[in-house]
Amino acid sequence: MVTLLRKVNGLDDPAISEAADILLAGGLVAFPTETVYGLGADGLNPEAVARIYAAKGRPATNPVILHVADAVSAQSLVSQWPDTARILVERYWPGPLTLVLPAAEAVPSIVRAGGSTVALRCPAHPVALALIRAVGRPLAAPSANRSQHLSPTLAQHVASSLGEAVDLILDGGPTSAGLESTILDLGGERPRILRPGPIAPGELAGYVGGLEVWEGDVKAGLRQDAPGMAERHYAPRARLEVVVPGDGFSTSAGSLAYVGFGTLPALPEGVRGVLLPLDPEAVGARLFALLHELDDAGYARIVMERPPEGEAWLAIRDRLRRASTKEQA
Ligand code: TXA
Ligand code: MG
Repeated sequence: MVTLLRKVNGLDDPAISEAADILLAGGLVAFPTETVYGLGADGLNPEAVARIYAAKGRPATNPVILHVADAVSAQSLVSQWPDTARILVERYWPGPLTLVLPAAEAVPSIVRAGGSTVALRCPAHPVALALIRAVGRPLAAPSANRSQHLSPTLAQHVASSLGEAVDLILDGGPTSAGLESTILDLGGERPRILRPGPIAPGELAGYVGGLEVWEGDVKAGLRQDAPGMAERHYAPRARLEVVVPGDGFSTSAGSLAYVGFGTLPALPEGVRGVLLPLDPEAVGARLFALLHELDDAGYARIVMERPPEGEAWLAIRDRLRRASTKEQA
């Protein structure tokens, strides 16, 4: 079956109801969110969710997020709805905050990867919300890329990564935040951030008592990753090296792109320079698309300056650390 890529022109576009029909029949639809594109399936249909795992080549040990259109739907999927969840949801939903909570029995085991918790998120993208409402059920949706590859911020990224494994791709243009949601675990003894994202830990700490806020590298064992975060992740095909600005880098091995923040140094002949602004939101929106572009242009190596310190850059440093061969970001 040939993948259909459909531009969505407005919320009354028939593509949305066609997508809902595909999902209700157990198919897979990729859709835009404000973070990255998601690969959606009916979250209450275990066979449909199994197709997500097959299409992505995702290990069965890695659970998926359920996407809902409102807090009431979220509450029907959990066995506890603590005050902290209510307060955070009032403040941040729809938006790039995923909450992990004790799951209700209605949540299929495959969604939870056999665990007792479920991750819930209400995306702030009109097409995503319209689609969830049209289906009338939660949508299971990981990022719409093959496992361990770069996340998609354009519909074309989905088509080139997953191709015919998807029944339909709704094209809503480039995603705005560009980095995956912040994941906050409220299902354990203490609240923990499992994945840094567009909402900074310091911001959440204002609403969550006892939140563990970590910066940069934390010793193994002290930080608990989301199950899918342990391995090398978000990787381009090119070798990505993160360097300290001003330090030398070898130019001998293969075609090379150099990515700098704020300013670019004088670069050797033949090295492509890419200048990113000293603005974490703008860089977050651009990062994955840039890595996709440099991959498509065939660069063997990408040398990227280490982003600035500070919490606003935390999610960007995290993604680069996971994408690079050296643990330097
Ligand atoms: O922004 C996002 O969150 C995007 C868009 C599509 O919503 N989704 C996304 O999904 O990034 P995915 O599957 O690529 O990453 C979700 C992460 C994985 O690392 C997974 O292990 C973790 O969330 N996760 C899912 N359910 C969990 C649970 N019950 N407990 C802990 N971590 C969970
Ligand atoms: Mg992902």
